[in-house]
Amino acid sequence: MSKNFDVVVIGGGPGGYIAAIRAAQLGQSVACIDAWQNAKGGSALGGTCTNVGCIPSKALLQSSEHFEMAGHGFAEHGIGVEGLKLDLGQMHRRKDKVVQQNNDGITYLFKKNKVTSFLGRGSFVGKVDGGYEIKVAREGAADGAASESVIGKHVIVATGSVPRSLADTPFDEKLVLSNTGALAIDGVPKKLGVIGAGVIGLEMGSVWRRLGAEVTVLEALPVFLAAVDDQIAKEAKKAFDKQGLVIKLGVKITKIAPGANDVAVEYADADGRQQTDTYDRLIVSIGRLPNTAGLEPAAIGLQCDERGFVLVDGECRTNLENVWGIGDVVRGPMLAHKAEEEGVAVAERIAGQRPHIDFNTVPWVIYTHPEIAWVGEAEQTLKLTGRAYKAGSFPFMANGRARALGDTTGMVKVIADATTDEILGVHMVGPGVSELIAEAVVAMEFKASAEDIARICHAHPSLSEATKEAALAVDRRTLNF
Ligand code: FAD
Ligand code: NAI
Repeated sequence: MSKNFDVVVIGGGPGGYIAAIRAAQLGQSVACIDAWQNAKGGSALGGTCTNVGCIPSKALLQSSEHFEMAGHGFAEHGIGVEGLKLDLGQMHRRKDKVVQQNNDGITYLFKKNKVTSFLGRGSFVGKVDGGYEIKVAREGAADGAASESVIGKHVIVATGSVPRSLADTPFDEKLVLSNTGALAIDGVPKKLGVIGAGVIGLEMGSVWRRLGAEVTVLEALPVFLAAVDDQIAKEAKKAFDKQGLVIKLGVKITKIAPGANDVAVEYADADGRQQTDTYDRLIVSIGRLPNTAGLEPAAIGLQCDERGFVLVDGECRTNLENVWGIGDVVRGPMLAHKAEEEGVAVAERIAGQRPHIDFNTVPWVIYTHPEIAWVGEAEQTLKLTGRAYKAGSFPFMANGRARALGDTTGMVKVIADATTDEILGVHMVGPGVSELIAEAVVAMEFKASAEDIARICHAHPSLSEATKEAALAVDRRTLNF
C-alpha cells in the first residue's frame, strides 16, 4: 500500500528539509525521503551541508583557528602558551558532535512540523492516480526488505550534489580525498596536496595548514579566485601567501599516481615545465556534480541536461506538472542558503503564493582567514558589460575595532551605479566579513544607494564601520582614511 502525501520531498539537505518544513507550515501533508545514514545506520538529516559540508568544515575551521591563535596569535596580546599540543581526535569528536546536534535538530523540526520522514533512497516508479509514485529503498537492507512506496501530488527533487573526481583517479578517501575524506584525516599529513583553489580547496587547505601540514594548492586557471572581485582576490592571495599556503596557478595536471602511502602528482606548471610532487594526502576539490543516482528520472520523463542537472525554469518548475527541482541538483550556485531559498519559494508556490528570489543578491562567503565575502557585481564584470560605476574601498587597517582585535588585513569595497548611486556589488576580505555581508545584502534587496549606507549610524567601534566608510569612499569622502 502506498502512502499519499500532498508533497513528497526527495532529499533532506538544506534545500529539501527546509522545503518540507515550509510546506508543512502551509498546511500540506508532507513526506521527506532522505538516504543519508549515520554510522549506526540511522537517519542523518541535513544532507551534504550538515554531514560533510558547511557544518563540519566550519567546526574544523574554528578549531584550527583557535590552535593557530594559541600558537602564533596570543603572544601579541601578552598571553603566553606553554606546552601547546594538538588533540586531533578530540577536534574530530567535537566536529562530529556539532554535526549530530544539527542532524538531531532537523529530526526535532520534522516532528514539530509533522513532516513524515523516510530513510532510504527514493526512485521514481511512474505517474499514477493522485500524483507520482516513488519507491523508497533502505540502503544496506536485504532486497525489498525495507522498501516501501509513497505517492506525492507534488514532488520536490532536492537530491543535491556529489564531488567530481579527476578522470581515472577515483576517490579512495585514504590517500585521494573528496570533501568527505578531507574532513576526517586522522593525523596531520606532513605534505598535503590540494587540486583546485576553489572554495573547498582554500577552506580545507587552511584547516590543515593551521594544524601543521605543508599545503600546496594546484589550480588550473591562471587567475586566483576568478569569480571574486579582482582587488579582493589579490588582497586575499597576498594574505594566503604570507601564511605559507602555497598556491600554484595555471597548472595542468597530467598524472596522479597513488602509491602505498603517498600520492605522486605530475603536472605542467604555468611556464610549461613538467613537475612531480609527492604528497602524503591529496584533496581533489575541482567542483561538484548534480546527484541523480538511483532517482530514475526517466521513469516519469523528468528532463535533465547533459551534465545531469534537473532542468528547471527561474521558478524551479521542471518539464513535468507538479514536479519541482531545487538546490545543488539544479542550475545556479551550489550554496546551502540558495537551496533553502528555493525550497521556501517552491513550498509557497505549491500553496498558491507568488514568492520571488533575486539570485543577484545571493551572498557568497569563503570561511578562510581572512574571510572573503561578496554580493552582486564585481568590478571586472561591470567593466566587461560597460556599465558606468563608481567604487570606493576602506581598509580594515584604518578601523579601530580591527586594530583592537589585532586583525587588520583586508578591506570593504562598495560599487555603485555612476548615475543613480544604487549599490551594484559589495566585496569584502577581512575579519568577520561573513557577518558583515548581511548588511550589504539587505541594502541591495532594498535597492539602497551607497549614500544610504553612508548616512546610517553604525556602532563604534565595530567592523561594520568599514562598510559605512567604504560607502562614503564611493563619494570620495571617507572620514577615517
Ligand atoms: P544536499 O545537501 O547535497 O542534500 C541532498 C540530500 O539528498 C542528501 O542527504 C542525499 O543523501 C539525499 N539524496 C540524494 N539522492 C537521493 C535519493 N534518490 N533518495 C533519497 N535521498 C537522496 N554552502 C554554503 O552555503 N556555505 C558553506 O559554508 C558551505 N560549505 C561547504 C563545504 C563543503 C566541504 C561542501 C562539500 C559543500 C559546502 N557548501 C556550502 C555547499 C552546500 O553543502 C550545498 O550547496 C548544499 O548542501 C546543497 O543543498 P541540497 O539540499 O541541494 O543538497
Ligand atoms: P569550486 O568550483 O569552488 O572550485 C574548483 C576549482 O578547481 C576551480 O578554481 C577550478 O578552476 C579548479 N579546477 C577544476 N578542474 C581542475 C583541474 N583539473 N586541475 C586543477 N584545478 C582544477 O569547487 P569546490 O571547491 O570543489 O567546491 C564545490 C562547491 O561547493 C563550491 O563551488 C561551492 O558552491 C560549494 N562550497 C561552498 C562553500 C562556502 O560557501 N563557503 C564551502 C565549500 C564548498
